[in-house]
Amino acid sequence: MARNKVAVIGAGNVGGTVAQWLAMEHLADIVLIDINAGLAKGKALDLMQAMLMQGTGVKVSGGDDYSMIEGAKIVVITAGVPRKKDPKTGKFPSRDELVKTNQGIVGEISKKVAQYAPDSIIIVVSNPLDAMCHVALQESGFSSRRVIGQAGALDTARYKTFIASELNVNVHNVHGITLGGHGDQMVPMTRQTSVSGIPIMELMDKKTLDDIVERTRKGGGEIVSLMGYSGYYAPAAGTVYMVASILNDLKRVVPSSVYLTGQYGYHRLYMGVPVVLGWNGVERIIEMELNEEEKTMLDASAASVKKVVEILGF
Ligand code: 2OP
Repeated sequence: MARNKVAVIGAGNVGGTVAQWLAMEHLADIVLIDINAGLAKGKALDLMQAMLMQGTGVKVSGGDDYSMIEGAKIVVITAGVPRKKDPKTGKFPSRDELVKTNQGIVGEISKKVAQYAPDSIIIVVSNPLDAMCHVALQESGFSSRRVIGQAGALDTARYKTFIASELNVNVHNVHGITLGGHGDQMVPMTRQTSVSGIPIMELMDKKTLDDIVERTRKGGGEIVSLMGYSGYYAPAAGTVYMVASILNDLKRVVPSSVYLTGQYGYHRLYMGVPVVLGWNGVERIIEMELNEEEKTMLDASAASVKKVVEILGF
């Protein structure tokens, strides 16, 4: 049977887990690419052997040769340097240094994607997320419908999970969304959050909800402080949720980082908003009505994304 092909660039924790999840859900044949060819080949082989137990017949291959991504419908970019201490100096890189390093990595990859998989849809997972979407758009030359950032799926999952745990209800009954950049200024939309249609404000007091909002905003950092490095199960699950919506044309409404051209009052800026994801990538950007307080918070988030984008120098 002909299957869709998904390429995952970067075979680290996030990339490897994306590949595993894709394989287990039988969503696509998978190509894992990493500058460390052995790592990509090894993980691919390990996964192939695991899939034998599953009996799915999904093919997984790995290496450092970009010609392997030819024919991919989706390319997931997870490569990049995480924010961690330099073992020699004991210092963290500055934000600007990190942005520049990852700009180089994501930029080179995006050019290769344009060369070998010119009709693909790129899902960016590398951080700083919204800025790296700008890099992928610029260097691939793709239409912005085909360059999408994964962040809102993860941030929303965190938000809903905290609410579900607090109320001891099934997380599928929690409806809510986070807007804005993937950072501490993101905006969980409390006013529109509900549990099976029951407004969240009727189910918990303001202080509890405010604490959940704060915890969501710092959700990535909470995991880093526990493990010493970033989480990967939920970022990978968020990515696969988006991949499935595109490959199966499910038209899920997923908050994602997309290129805004006037929506919500922002121009030429990648930021998280609800979008419909289908076979063509971003099929629609949904504009929610915001009150003044929400718009002020979103403006602050947009300003912090812009500051990082300015470092890119284009
Ligand atoms: C996270 O939020 C690091 O972006 C990643 O966990």
